Amino acid sequence: MNEANPGVVKAVIPAAGLGTRFLPATKATPKEMLPVVDKPAIQYVVEEAVAAGLDDVLLVTGRNKRALEDHFDRNYELEHALSRKGDDQRLSMVRESADLATVHYVRQGDPRGLGHAVLSAAAHVGDEPFAVLLGDDLIDPRDPLLARMVEVQKALGGSVVALMEVPAAQIHLYGCAAVETTADDDVVLITGLVEKPAPGEAPSSYAVIGRYVLDPAVFDVLRRTAPGRGGEIQLTDALEELALDPSLGGPVHGVVFRGRRYDTGDRGDYLRAIVRLACEREDLGPDFRAWLRDWVRDEL
Ligand code: G1P
Repeated sequence: MNEANPGVVKAVIPAAGLGTRFLPATKATPKEMLPVVDKPAIQYVVEEAVAAGLDDVLLVTGRNKRALEDHFDRNYELEHALSRKGDDQRLSMVRESADLATVHYVRQGDPRGLGHAVLSAAAHVGDEPFAVLLGDDLIDPRDPLLARMVEVQKALGGSVVALMEVPAAQIHLYGCAAVETTADDDVVLITGLVEKPAPGEAPSSYAVIGRYVLDPAVFDVLRRTAPGRGGEIQLTDALEELALDPSLGGPVHGVVFRGRRYDTGDRGDYLRAIVRLACEREDLGPDFRAWLRDWVRDEL
Protein backbone atom coordinates (compact mmCIF):
# COMPACT_ATOMS: atom_id res chain seq x y z
CA MET A 1 0.00 0.00 0.00
CA ASN A 2 1.33 3.39 -0.99
CA GLU A 3 0.68 5.71 1.97
CA ALA A 4 1.61 8.87 0.03
CA ASN A 5 -1.21 8.18 -2.42
CA PRO A 6 -4.32 10.12 -1.30
CA GLY A 7 -6.62 7.74 -3.18
CA VAL A 8 -9.32 8.50 -5.66
CA VAL A 9 -12.32 10.69 -4.77
CA LYS A 10 -13.31 12.32 -8.05
CA ALA A 11 -15.13 10.79 -10.98
CA VAL A 12 -15.37 12.33 -14.44
CA ILE A 13 -18.23 11.29 -16.71
CA PRO A 14 -18.07 12.50 -20.32
CA ALA A 15 -21.60 13.35 -21.48
CA ALA A 16 -21.19 15.81 -24.33
CA GLY A 17 -21.85 13.46 -27.25
CA LEU A 18 -24.62 14.28 -29.68
CA GLY A 19 -26.22 10.84 -29.46
CA THR A 20 -26.85 10.74 -33.20
CA ARG A 21 -27.36 6.97 -33.15
CA PHE A 22 -30.58 7.53 -31.20
CA LEU A 23 -32.18 10.24 -33.31
CA PRO A 24 -34.91 11.39 -33.27
CA ALA A 25 -35.17 10.55 -29.53
CA THR A 26 -32.04 12.59 -28.86
CA LYS A 27 -33.01 15.67 -30.83
CA ALA A 28 -34.04 17.55 -27.68
CA THR A 29 -33.13 15.00 -24.97
CA PRO A 30 -29.58 14.04 -24.07
CA LYS A 31 -28.87 10.38 -24.83
CA GLU A 32 -27.67 10.00 -21.23
CA MET A 33 -31.27 10.64 -20.13
CA LEU A 34 -32.76 7.76 -22.14
CA PRO A 35 -34.34 5.33 -19.69
CA VAL A 36 -32.77 1.95 -19.09
CA VAL A 37 -35.85 0.20 -17.68
CA ASP A 38 -37.00 3.11 -15.47
CA LYS A 39 -33.86 5.08 -14.68
CA PRO A 40 -31.87 7.34 -16.98
CA ALA A 41 -28.66 5.66 -18.16
CA ILE A 42 -26.52 8.34 -16.52
CA GLN A 43 -27.92 7.58 -13.06
CA TYR A 44 -26.57 4.02 -13.15
CA VAL A 45 -23.13 5.43 -13.89
CA VAL A 46 -23.24 8.01 -11.09
CA GLU A 47 -24.48 5.30 -8.70
CA GLU A 48 -21.55 3.12 -9.70
CA ALA A 49 -19.06 5.92 -8.94
CA VAL A 50 -20.68 6.53 -5.56
CA ALA A 51 -20.65 2.82 -4.73
CA ALA A 52 -16.86 2.85 -5.30
CA GLY A 53 -16.51 5.74 -2.84
CA LEU A 54 -16.31 8.55 -5.42
CA ASP A 55 -18.98 11.08 -4.56
CA ASP A 56 -17.44 14.09 -6.29
CA VAL A 57 -18.73 13.71 -9.82
CA LEU A 58 -17.91 15.99 -12.74
CA LEU A 59 -20.17 15.69 -15.78
CA VAL A 60 -18.56 16.96 -18.96
CA THR A 61 -21.54 18.27 -20.89
CA GLY A 62 -22.30 20.43 -23.90
CA ARG A 63 -25.20 22.18 -25.54
CA ASN A 64 -28.68 20.65 -25.01
CA LYS A 65 -27.69 18.91 -21.79
CA ARG A 66 -29.69 20.90 -19.23
CA ALA A 67 -31.89 17.92 -18.45
CA LEU A 68 -28.84 16.30 -16.83
CA GLU A 69 -28.50 19.19 -14.41
CA ASP A 70 -32.20 19.08 -13.62
CA HIS A 71 -32.05 15.34 -12.98
CA PHE A 72 -29.36 15.64 -10.33
CA ASP A 73 -31.04 18.65 -8.69
CA ARG A 74 -34.10 18.97 -6.46
CA ASN A 75 -37.53 19.36 -8.09
CA TYR A 76 -39.59 21.09 -5.42
CA GLU A 77 -42.80 21.24 -7.43
CA LEU A 78 -42.80 17.49 -8.02
CA GLU A 79 -41.71 16.76 -4.46
CA HIS A 80 -44.52 18.95 -3.12
CA ALA A 81 -47.12 17.22 -5.31
CA LEU A 82 -45.92 13.75 -4.27
CA SER A 83 -45.76 14.62 -0.60
CA ARG A 84 -49.31 16.07 -0.71
CA LYS A 85 -50.45 12.72 -2.13
CA GLY A 86 -48.50 10.89 0.56
CA ASP A 87 -46.58 8.98 -2.13
CA ASP A 88 -43.43 8.46 -0.09
CA GLN A 89 -41.97 5.83 -2.34
CA ARG A 90 -41.90 8.04 -5.43
CA LEU A 91 -40.89 11.01 -3.31
CA SER A 92 -37.77 9.24 -2.17
CA MET A 93 -37.06 8.17 -5.76
CA VAL A 94 -37.24 11.78 -6.90
CA ARG A 95 -34.96 12.94 -4.10
CA GLU A 96 -32.50 10.10 -4.53
CA SER A 97 -30.84 11.37 -7.69
CA ALA A 98 -30.37 14.83 -6.15
CA ASP A 99 -28.82 13.43 -2.99
CA LEU A 100 -26.55 10.84 -4.61
CA ALA A 101 -23.37 12.82 -5.05
CA THR A 102 -21.94 16.31 -5.35
CA VAL A 103 -22.33 16.80 -9.07
CA HIS A 104 -20.33 19.45 -10.91
CA TYR A 105 -20.52 20.44 -14.56
CA VAL A 106 -18.10 21.67 -17.15
CA ARG A 107 -18.96 22.28 -20.78
CA GLN A 108 -16.71 20.87 -23.42
CA GLY A 109 -17.41 23.47 -26.11
CA ASP A 110 -16.30 21.84 -29.33
CA PRO A 111 -16.57 18.07 -28.88
CA ARG A 112 -13.16 16.96 -30.17
CA GLY A 113 -13.08 13.43 -28.80
CA LEU A 114 -12.90 11.51 -25.55
CA GLY A 115 -9.36 12.71 -24.81
CA HIS A 116 -10.51 16.30 -25.21
CA ALA A 117 -13.50 15.68 -22.89
CA VAL A 118 -11.17 14.29 -20.22
CA LEU A 119 -8.82 17.24 -20.66
CA SER A 120 -11.66 19.64 -19.91
CA ALA A 121 -11.78 18.10 -16.41
CA ALA A 122 -8.18 19.14 -15.64
CA ALA A 123 -8.97 22.24 -13.57
CA HIS A 124 -11.56 20.42 -11.47
CA VAL A 125 -9.46 17.32 -10.90
CA GLY A 126 -6.16 19.05 -10.04
CA ASP A 127 -3.16 16.93 -9.14
CA GLU A 128 -4.73 13.70 -7.92
CA PRO A 129 -5.68 10.38 -9.45
CA PHE A 130 -9.26 10.32 -10.70
CA ALA A 131 -11.73 7.98 -12.35
CA VAL A 132 -13.36 8.25 -15.77
CA LEU A 133 -16.62 6.40 -16.44
CA LEU A 134 -18.16 6.20 -19.91
CA GLY A 135 -21.91 6.19 -20.00
CA ASP A 136 -22.32 3.65 -22.81
CA ASP A 137 -20.99 0.85 -20.60
CA LEU A 138 -23.12 -0.19 -17.64
CA ILE A 139 -21.50 -2.47 -15.09
CA ASP A 140 -23.77 -4.64 -12.98
CA PRO A 141 -23.65 -3.35 -9.38
CA ARG A 142 -23.34 -6.97 -8.20
CA ASP A 143 -19.96 -7.23 -9.94
CA PRO A 144 -18.02 -4.27 -8.58
CA LEU A 145 -15.24 -3.24 -10.94
CA LEU A 146 -14.40 0.34 -10.10
CA ALA A 147 -13.68 -0.35 -6.43
CA ARG A 148 -11.19 -3.03 -7.50
CA MET A 149 -9.54 -0.60 -9.93
CA VAL A 150 -9.22 2.03 -7.19
CA GLU A 151 -7.64 -0.59 -4.94
CA VAL A 152 -5.16 -1.63 -7.65
CA GLN A 153 -4.28 2.01 -8.35
CA LYS A 154 -3.65 2.59 -4.67
CA ALA A 155 -1.35 -0.42 -4.47
CA LEU A 156 0.54 0.02 -7.76
CA GLY A 157 0.25 3.76 -8.54
CA GLY A 158 0.07 5.02 -12.11
CA SER A 159 -3.11 4.42 -14.09
CA VAL A 160 -5.54 1.52 -14.31
CA VAL A 161 -7.80 0.65 -17.21
CA ALA A 162 -10.70 -1.84 -17.26
CA LEU A 163 -10.27 -4.65 -19.77
CA MET A 164 -12.58 -7.40 -20.93
CA GLU A 165 -11.86 -10.28 -23.28
CA VAL A 166 -14.02 -10.06 -26.39
CA PRO A 167 -14.35 -12.27 -29.49
CA ALA A 168 -11.85 -11.44 -32.28
CA ALA A 169 -14.68 -10.21 -34.51
CA GLN A 170 -15.55 -7.45 -32.01
CA ILE A 171 -12.17 -6.06 -31.04
CA HIS A 172 -12.23 -3.40 -33.79
CA LEU A 173 -14.99 -1.65 -31.84
CA TYR A 174 -12.73 -0.95 -28.86
CA GLY A 175 -9.38 0.25 -27.65
CA CYS A 176 -7.20 -2.86 -27.46
CA ALA A 177 -4.31 -3.50 -25.03
CA ALA A 178 -1.07 -5.44 -25.39
CA VAL A 179 -0.48 -6.98 -21.97
CA GLU A 180 1.87 -8.95 -19.74
CA THR A 181 0.60 -11.04 -16.86
CA THR A 182 1.30 -10.13 -13.21
CA ALA A 183 1.14 -12.16 -10.02
CA ASP A 184 -2.54 -11.16 -9.68
CA ASP A 185 -4.94 -13.21 -11.77
CA ASP A 186 -7.10 -10.16 -12.59
CA VAL A 187 -4.29 -7.62 -13.12
CA VAL A 188 -2.11 -7.22 -16.22
CA LEU A 189 0.62 -4.75 -17.13
CA ILE A 190 -0.30 -2.81 -20.26
CA THR A 191 2.59 -2.50 -22.69
CA GLY A 192 0.75 -0.88 -25.59
CA LEU A 193 -2.69 0.33 -26.70
CA VAL A 194 -4.37 0.74 -30.07
CA GLU A 195 -7.67 2.53 -30.63
CA LYS A 196 -10.08 0.40 -32.69
CA PRO A 197 -7.51 -1.78 -34.47
CA ALA A 198 -8.18 -2.98 -38.01
CA PRO A 199 -9.01 -6.70 -38.27
CA GLY A 200 -5.80 -8.71 -37.91
CA GLU A 201 -3.94 -5.87 -36.19
CA ALA A 202 -5.22 -6.28 -32.65
CA PRO A 203 -2.40 -7.08 -30.21
CA SER A 204 -4.73 -9.17 -28.01
CA SER A 205 -8.37 -9.91 -27.30
CA TYR A 206 -8.40 -7.49 -24.36
CA ALA A 207 -10.82 -4.63 -25.04
CA VAL A 208 -10.82 -1.42 -23.04
CA ILE A 209 -14.25 -1.05 -21.47
CA GLY A 210 -15.23 2.41 -20.35
CA ARG A 211 -13.69 2.60 -16.87
CA TYR A 212 -10.36 4.24 -16.10
CA VAL A 213 -8.48 5.36 -12.99
CA LEU A 214 -5.91 7.84 -14.22
CA ASP A 215 -2.81 9.53 -12.96
CA PRO A 216 -3.11 13.32 -13.48
CA ALA A 217 -0.01 13.13 -15.72
CA VAL A 218 -2.53 12.16 -18.42
CA PHE A 219 -3.53 15.84 -18.73
CA ASP A 220 -0.07 16.96 -19.88
CA VAL A 221 0.03 14.12 -22.36
CA LEU A 222 -3.47 14.96 -23.65
CA ARG A 223 -2.45 18.59 -24.20
CA ARG A 224 0.04 17.44 -26.80
CA THR A 225 -1.89 14.45 -28.18
CA ALA A 226 -2.65 15.00 -31.86
CA PRO A 227 -6.01 13.97 -33.28
CA GLY A 228 -5.99 10.24 -33.94
CA ARG A 229 -8.59 7.79 -35.15
CA GLY A 230 -11.66 9.54 -36.58
CA GLY A 231 -9.83 12.90 -36.35
CA GLU A 232 -10.52 12.94 -32.59
CA ILE A 233 -8.20 13.38 -29.63
CA GLN A 234 -8.17 9.84 -28.30
CA LEU A 235 -7.74 8.97 -24.62
CA THR A 236 -6.32 5.64 -25.80
CA ASP A 237 -3.43 7.43 -27.57
CA ALA A 238 -2.52 9.36 -24.41
CA LEU A 239 -2.65 6.15 -22.37
CA GLU A 240 -0.39 4.44 -24.89
CA GLU A 241 2.18 7.20 -24.32
CA LEU A 242 1.91 6.74 -20.54
CA ALA A 243 2.27 2.96 -20.91
CA LEU A 244 5.36 3.28 -23.11
CA ASP A 245 7.09 5.74 -20.75
CA PRO A 246 6.27 5.01 -17.08
CA SER A 247 8.53 7.92 -16.04
CA LEU A 248 5.68 10.25 -17.09
CA GLY A 249 3.02 9.10 -14.65
CA GLY A 250 3.77 5.58 -13.50
CA PRO A 251 2.81 2.28 -15.11
CA VAL A 252 -0.53 1.50 -16.75
CA HIS A 253 -2.21 -1.65 -15.50
CA GLY A 254 -5.38 -3.35 -16.60
CA VAL A 255 -7.98 -4.94 -14.35
CA VAL A 256 -9.58 -7.82 -16.22
CA PHE A 257 -13.34 -7.74 -15.70
CA ARG A 258 -15.23 -11.02 -15.90
CA GLY A 259 -18.59 -9.81 -14.63
CA ARG A 260 -21.79 -8.57 -16.20
CA ARG A 261 -21.52 -5.57 -18.51
CA TYR A 262 -24.36 -4.02 -20.50
CA ASP A 263 -23.65 -1.93 -23.56
CA THR A 264 -26.09 0.88 -24.32
CA GLY A 265 -24.04 2.40 -27.14
CA ASP A 266 -26.32 1.69 -30.08
CA ARG A 267 -29.95 0.79 -30.53
CA GLY A 268 -29.51 -2.97 -30.65
CA ASP A 269 -27.23 -3.05 -27.60
CA TYR A 270 -29.55 -0.66 -25.79
CA LEU A 271 -32.55 -2.93 -26.36
CA ARG A 272 -30.58 -5.99 -25.21
CA ALA A 273 -29.43 -4.13 -22.08
CA ILE A 274 -33.00 -3.19 -21.18
CA VAL A 275 -34.30 -6.73 -21.66
CA ARG A 276 -31.47 -8.25 -19.61
CA LEU A 277 -31.79 -5.72 -16.80
CA ALA A 278 -35.59 -5.97 -16.74
CA CYS A 279 -35.35 -9.77 -16.51
CA GLU A 280 -33.04 -9.48 -13.51
CA ARG A 281 -35.12 -6.95 -11.60
CA GLU A 282 -36.81 -8.35 -8.51
CA ASP A 283 -39.95 -6.26 -8.97
CA LEU A 284 -40.43 -6.51 -12.75
CA GLY A 285 -38.41 -9.63 -13.57
CA PRO A 286 -40.77 -12.52 -12.75
CA ASP A 287 -43.70 -11.21 -14.85
CA PHE A 288 -41.50 -9.91 -17.62
CA ARG A 289 -39.53 -13.16 -17.94
CA ALA A 290 -42.73 -15.20 -18.10
CA TRP A 291 -44.14 -12.90 -20.81
CA LEU A 292 -40.88 -12.95 -22.74
CA ARG A 293 -40.71 -16.75 -22.68
CA ASP A 294 -44.28 -17.05 -24.05
CA TRP A 295 -43.74 -14.33 -26.60
CA VAL A 296 -40.56 -15.89 -27.97
CA ARG A 297 -42.25 -19.31 -28.11
CA ASP A 298 -45.42 -18.10 -29.80
CA GLU A 299 -44.34 -15.17 -31.95
CA LEU A 300 -40.71 -15.66 -33.00
C1 G1P B 1 -14.44 4.59 -26.34
C2 G1P B 1 -12.91 4.46 -26.31
C3 G1P B 1 -12.51 3.02 -26.59
C4 G1P B 1 -13.19 2.09 -25.61
C5 G1P B 1 -14.72 2.29 -25.65
C6 G1P B 1 -15.38 1.49 -24.54
O1 G1P B 1 -14.87 4.39 -27.67
O2 G1P B 1 -12.35 5.36 -27.26
O3 G1P B 1 -11.11 2.90 -26.47
O4 G1P B 1 -12.86 0.77 -25.92
O5 G1P B 1 -15.07 3.67 -25.47
O6 G1P B 1 -16.77 1.55 -24.61
P1 G1P B 1 -16.39 4.74 -28.18
O7 G1P B 1 -17.18 3.51 -27.93
O8 G1P B 1 -16.85 5.90 -27.38
O9 G1P B 1 -16.23 5.05 -29.64
